[in-house]
Amino acid sequence: MNPLIQQQVTHGSEILRNGGVMAFPTETVYGLGARYDDPKAIQKIYDLKHRPADNPLIVHINDRNDLSSLVEFPIDSRLQYLMDRFWPGPLTVLLPKSALVPEVVTAGLPTIAIRFPAHEITRDLIDQVGVPLVAPSANPSGKPSATHHDHIAYYFEREVFCIEAGFTSVGLESTVVGIDKGQVTIFRSGGITQENLSCSLEEEVPLFTSREYTPSPGMKYRHYAPEGQVILIDSIAELPAVERSEKRGVIASEEFFAEVSLQSDVQKISLGSRDNLADISGQVYHALYLADYYQLEVIFVERFRREGLGQAIMDKFDKASQEK
Ligand code: TXA
Ligand code: MG
Repeated sequence: MNPLIQQQVTHGSEILRNGGVMAFPTETVYGLGARYDDPKAIQKIYDLKHRPADNPLIVHINDRNDLSSLVEFPIDSRLQYLMDRFWPGPLTVLLPKSALVPEVVTAGLPTIAIRFPAHEITRDLIDQVGVPLVAPSANPSGKPSATHHDHIAYYFEREVFCIEAGFTSVGLESTVVGIDKGQVTIFRSGGITQENLSCSLEEEVPLFTSREYTPSPGMKYRHYAPEGQVILIDSIAELPAVERSEKRGVIASEEFFAEVSLQSDVQKISLGSRDNLADISGQVYHALYLADYYQLEVIFVERFRREGLGQAIMDKFDKASQEK
């Protein structure tokens, strides 16, 4: 790790040890962290993000032994299998919560979300603090998640210390899995695909779809939305429907832009090649951030196929396009 980053990790760990809040990279998105055992520090996270109090946080560990103070055993064997297979990495698992964990972490729920991140900086930071860290994505509630330290400076105006490690690699949040009606179920699509999970377990792992109740509270809120109106499109033919006077932009693949010639006043934001969904994932939040940065009023977004990472990519764009 370069010495400058090393210094920032040490500084960040001091802030956290002393009950503060700071931002750090993970392989998925930047997180806004606090010690998991410090309710006052955790409350600062909710305040900074304007996060609804019923939306629980993910606890980040750097050692499987940390589970002993966080969850009730035994762990479901299928979830254990997924943890062995995908940790460290972008997988969050919902497990029965131990009574030792403060209620504010789980917003009163009987389960706790645990993630073992793969990023060297995150792991080093947890190590230096010496206890697991809670960390939601480092964005104000409802806004696109942060995938670069510049996004954090933009959102929190230097109010929050951030380790400056450039772009994250995955670019989408971790996949959240748990048990619903006895079945391993995906509560949030993310960096690990439904196909990956189903294939590993040799059984279909469904996406949680019930509208009757929401065991994962975060999913019911509007998310990832820039200020302007987001409109999903399949083809360029849908573009001219908009008033000329509005500041317009298009978020799409290289291939999409190659097929059309856009008017010069339309801001182009390329996500990379459609053939490489991992690259596209990495650009989703930056593209939505740029939409705000350019103050776009109408943003057309190419619709991708809901396969592999396309599932998580479209989840984010769908949510970004929901009515305010
Ligand atoms: O990749 C990630 O997971 C990032 C990085 C920073 O690790 N973190 C992240 O946290 O995305 P956040 O707070 O933005 O999203 C956590 C999601 C929310 O939808 C929340 O409702 C859900 O996980 N969640 C947390 N605890 C839960 C629980 N006990 N039961 C159900 N859902 C839970
Ligand atoms: Mg979030």
